[in-house]
Amino acid sequence: MKIVKQNNKLAVPNKVTIPFIEGDGIGKEITPVCRAVVDSAVAKAYGGSRSIDWKEVLAGEKAFNETGNWLPDETPEAFRDCLVGIKGPLTTPVGEGVRSLNVALRQTLDLYVCLRPVRWIKGLASPLKEPQKVNMVVFRENTEDIYAGIEWRQGTPEAGKFLKFLTEEMGVTKIRFPKTSAFGVKPVSVEGTERLVRAAIAYALENRLPSVTLVHKGNIMKYTEGGFKRWGYELAQREFARELAEGKLVIQDVIADAFLQNTLLTPEKYSVIATLNLNGDYISDQLAAMVGGIGIAPGANICYESGHALFEATHGTAPDIAGKNVANPSSLLLSSVMMLEYIGWTEAAGLIAAAIDKSFAGGRATHDLARFMPNGETLGTMEFGAHLVTLINEIYGV
Ligand code: NAI
Repeated sequence: MKIVKQNNKLAVPNKVTIPFIEGDGIGKEITPVCRAVVDSAVAKAYGGSRSIDWKEVLAGEKAFNETGNWLPDETPEAFRDCLVGIKGPLTTPVGEGVRSLNVALRQTLDLYVCLRPVRWIKGLASPLKEPQKVNMVVFRENTEDIYAGIEWRQGTPEAGKFLKFLTEEMGVTKIRFPKTSAFGVKPVSVEGTERLVRAAIAYALENRLPSVTLVHKGNIMKYTEGGFKRWGYELAQREFARELAEGKLVIQDVIADAFLQNTLLTPEKYSVIATLNLNGDYISDQLAAMVGGIGIAPGANICYESGHALFEATHGTAPDIAGKNVANPSSLLLSSVMMLEYIGWTEAAGLIAAAIDKSFAGGRATHDLARFMPNGETLGTMEFGAHLVTLINEIYGV
């Protein structure tokens, strides 16, 4: 049965259909492990009264091999229909004119928030002295900015035409080497900013978090990134005046380069981060590296209005280790935890998170993490999954 959005809320059936993309490379290894751990947590948490009906949909190499199409129409349709889904990593097809599959999925469903929680788990090696101070949630705008893909290659008639427009019609004189320049366009809109900042503030209030920080380069890009900052503050004042006056939340802003420094020096100053697409890309990876690397960072792409959400492993297909039973399934698993929280199955989410915490605290992890842990014990992908299932049973007291 499908999840539907009713009265602004998700109505989640007890036997819920979740479409999933297995993923290429290590996707074949981490996805089955992830499903098994999630199934066991759901079974334990709800004594069999709730379950997930996993529905495989194709994308990436597997789709190409079976159908000749990298992203068959049925796949975005299934996510559209079922509202909530999850995906493993996908090979980006090489070649001109083939769009990134991830970008295509995000655009089709207008998943405008890229959500990345970043917290340190005890036991993980970190380059920081006090990684326990890192507890942030990044709201990265997913549909605008320089990522919109509006750019022209150097030397093409299009680049020439654009140059002509800039110089002759717009009076632009600041292009240092006009004849050999490529060009890109950076659209940043009021609506795009407002829906992102609104979602970040709503999340902070719902989770009783102390602040939302607008991260931007408005000192240089005054109208695009500066607009983001201004529209963000205005939206906060207009729609959340009461909460701000009651001191429930602080809205602050910081220039992106200072932010990257500050997160290393005083990470405790930051909680929810709202930022533009490109800044968000850099920020998510730096923050993830501060608490154990992108290999374990979870993520989701969400449209809060429609309810559509696609949870995903944030790393790639790791072809160098594929097929060796060494890949770490934690990124996908922690994304599943986010997914279960999103659909309100918080008890099952809590069980998985607790099992992962317990495993890392005991030094048991896959090779990428265990090798940096004092007394770390390396487990294979499947063995790590089985260990988590054992821990879920232990935590539940079976
Ligand atoms: P990658 O993330 O696949 O690998 C980078 C490094 O991290 C490799 O050394 C890899 O072994 C390691 N690694 C990644 N995930 C790991 C895991 N779960 N456990 C242990 N080690 C892990 O990035 P790369 O090599 O640049 O990209 C490979 C392919 O993945 C490309 O086709 C790329 O386009 C695609 N990709 C897909 C993404 C997605 O679907 N969300 C994101 C990033 C890349």
